[in-house]
Amino acid sequence: MQVVRRGPDTVVVRTPCKLNLFLEVIGKRADGYHELDMIMEAIDLCDTLTVARDADGIALACDDPAVPTDRRNTIVRAAERFFEAAGLPPRARMHLRKRVPIGGGLGGGSANGIGALRALMELYAAPLPREEQFRIACELGSDVPFFLYGGLARCRGRGEIIDPLGAGAPRRYLVLVPPFACSTAEVYANLNLPLTSPRSAGTMSPGSVEERIRDGMLFFNRLEQPAAGLRPEFALIMKKAREIGVDAHMTGSGACLFALASDRAGGGRDALVAEALAGMAEVRIAENLPAWG
Ligand code: C5P
Repeated sequence: MQVVRRGPDTVVVRTPCKLNLFLEVIGKRADGYHELDMIMEAIDLCDTLTVARDADGIALACDDPAVPTDRRNTIVRAAERFFEAAGLPPRARMHLRKRVPIGGGLGGGSANGIGALRALMELYAAPLPREEQFRIACELGSDVPFFLYGGLARCRGRGEIIDPLGAGAPRRYLVLVPPFACSTAEVYANLNLPLTSPRSAGTMSPGSVEERIRDGMLFFNRLEQPAAGLRPEFALIMKKAREIGVDAHMTGSGACLFALASDRAGGGRDALVAEALAGMAEVRIAENLPAWG
């Protein structure tokens, strides 16, 4: 996630998103959140955030009217935290070009928050200490701390205990985007934890994770069942994908799904998948990204 200067008073940052290659719910915590064990990977579906300082206060505009531009938006809350922590008067005029699906489990909004933080640190030449950035990220949401790192990582706790797993081998994913969103809180509320012990992501050496990604053995998401319980269309997409030989899994709390894409030579298969799922889900292709943190 690189911040680029566009003159003395403007910066631009492209903010990627993530897939949950593995997501197990270990249990419910006393604070109402769930204890998780996840493997996350950054991918190159990106939004573009432009930040200028010719403003009084904090203003956000977005080319997608479905995106809130007030304090419900992580960008606005990240900017507030930045100015507070840096001891500067709030001056930021921001524009978001939204391309990552909203409410899709891809963490686009979480990445936007870190993008805003990095853009403002660059614009004001006011880098916050890493621990301060981490504290702000945790306050902004469960998926936000991962975007301080990117790449391939194991994330535990609520998502804030992060062990980077090194650079993933270059790979491409099919991302299936249904025409509806899932509410994270509703999906968790619909979850019945099994009485059996939680699945393990296995030994966590980067080599073994890579191997299990290649074999398709790693992909798992405990939230698929509760999400399908809420949205019957979702179960239909998964069934259709499996019928045509695509082992699709949900990312985060949905509603997007993903599977490994064929290598470039086998791209014809990806086009067939898009055709077979037409009307049920839009198919996009994304590449994994190395860590930036
Ligand atoms: O932290 P965030 O705002 O992304 O979480 C949204 C909702 O998802 C929470 O209010 C909670 O209901 C649920 N959640 C959870 N356990 C997690 C993460 C999220 O129960 N580890």
